[in-house]
Amino acid sequence: MPKKGPTNSAKKKQPAFAIAILAAGKGTRLKSQHPKVLHEIAGKPLLAHVVAAAMQVVPPQNIFAIIGHGADKVRSALQSTGIGFVLQPEQRGTGHAMMQASEALRAFQHVLVLSGDVPMISSQTIARVRDFHTTNDAAMTILTTEPSDPTGYGRVFRRMAKGKETDEVERIVEQKALRGKESERREINSGIYAFAIGPLYSHIGKLGTDNAHHEYYLTDIAELLRKANKKVLALRANDSAEVLGVNTRVELAQLDAQLRARKARELMLAGTTIFRPDTCDIDADVEIGSDTVIEPFVQLIGKTRIGADCRIRSFSVITNCRLGDNVLVRPGCILEDSIVRNGAQLGPYSHLRPGSDIGEGAHVGNFVETKKTRLGKGSKANHLTYLGDSEIGEGVNVGAGTITCNYDGVNKHETVIEDGAFIGSDSTLVAPVRVGRGAYIGAASCITENVPEDALAIGRGRQVTKEGWAKERRAKIKATAK
Ligand code: UD1
Ligand code: CA
Repeated sequence: MPKKGPTNSAKKKQPAFAIAILAAGKGTRLKSQHPKVLHEIAGKPLLAHVVAAAMQVVPPQNIFAIIGHGADKVRSALQSTGIGFVLQPEQRGTGHAMMQASEALRAFQHVLVLSGDVPMISSQTIARVRDFHTTNDAAMTILTTEPSDPTGYGRVFRRMAKGKETDEVERIVEQKALRGKESERREINSGIYAFAIGPLYSHIGKLGTDNAHHEYYLTDIAELLRKANKKVLALRANDSAEVLGVNTRVELAQLDAQLRARKARELMLAGTTIFRPDTCDIDADVEIGSDTVIEPFVQLIGKTRIGADCRIRSFSVITNCRLGDNVLVRPGCILEDSIVRNGAQLGPYSHLRPGSDIGEGAHVGNFVETKKTRLGKGSKANHLTYLGDSEIGEGVNVGAGTITCNYDGVNKHETVIEDGAFIGSDSTLVAPVRVGRGAYIGAASCITENVPEDALAIGRGRQVTKEGWAKERRAKIKATAK
């Protein structure tokens, strides 16, 4: 059989592209003790958004984050992605950052430069810059856009030919250096570029620091390359929202809102109902199945995964949880690092702390707190209960006000309740303790010893009834009052 698709010799060899992400800056305008690129939008550090987009274009071993301010924190936050890191110990500008990376980039033919503080960039746009750059055989390609307010960005000035703008760039002028009519220029530098490695590193040494910040500006390389008769091109972004940078907390909030709106939109188009998406906070990595309904004022955080046909009612906060299909979360539930299986019902006001595993069709009701607890299929704990470090079988009924006394002041102990057991209301189970299959616990018992299968255990003081006592007391009170 003839092989389908192009043969090896017909395949055009892609030149080796690296991606460098500038992420060493302090972010003075955020007024923060923490590294700028670790500030979060949509529940994920700025830099993690950029790395995720980059990893869709090149493998992680071709990606280098240039780090400096808070380098250790940044490195450990992104370590698991498998990307490389280049240290820029002193932050002397974006040009200086690229000088530090020369060693790491030498093995490649081209480099795409991204900014750790331009987090909305998509993999499609990165690939578009790469393709435009290689197709046109440029030395430098600058991704540009015209936002409604260009204040604060460097402006891109193009070469004119016959009264018309060309693709070629004359120079980039930073905001503070704009003179006279130049500040009317609306086309901005996104801080995203492609470079051919050769010309970049043969000219980068000529950058100077004669500017407002006394820094080496990478933007100055455009004019240097052009003067050396190298091709410097500008490519307009299709969507200017993708290249907005974060310099202040105001911009941080704006981009967070935009990303969350984008996320909600994706989910809705894929089959999730979200009635008031503007009131919900759904993190970038959350997954939701079809026909699930998210009511207003819900927060879905971290790596939360929700199945199909669920309903998440208002004011619930769900962090790093896995919910099956047909799960009902009534209002005001707080769920963290837990599993909720198909058809289970929670709330209102249930609190699942880490390590809870709520079985198929199980019910957890109001003011019930669970921690490191497995509640078996069809079991119920509906009211005012604490279940910690416990293993509860199938078809168990846990009465109102039941408490597992799991902590003796030094150690934690386990409570086991086997299938079909019935725990009467207001019982305390002093762990370690085991209630056997099908056993009954009388209401208000304090259980300190194991209860065998099918037994009834009652652990409470006997009731004393004194006939006529109340009537006599009232009579006495009346007599002394006279
Ligand atoms: C930069 C561009 C500007 C562009 C804008 C787009 C320069 C001189 N200016 O300005 O033309 O419109 O981005 O968002 O490049 N960084 C380092 N090491 C340093 C300095 C900065 O790694 O020594 C990193 C920062 O962490 C940041 C990125 O480079 O991620 C951009 O630096 P920033 O200071 O934010 O530059 P802008 O003033 O925004
Ligand atoms: Ca910036």
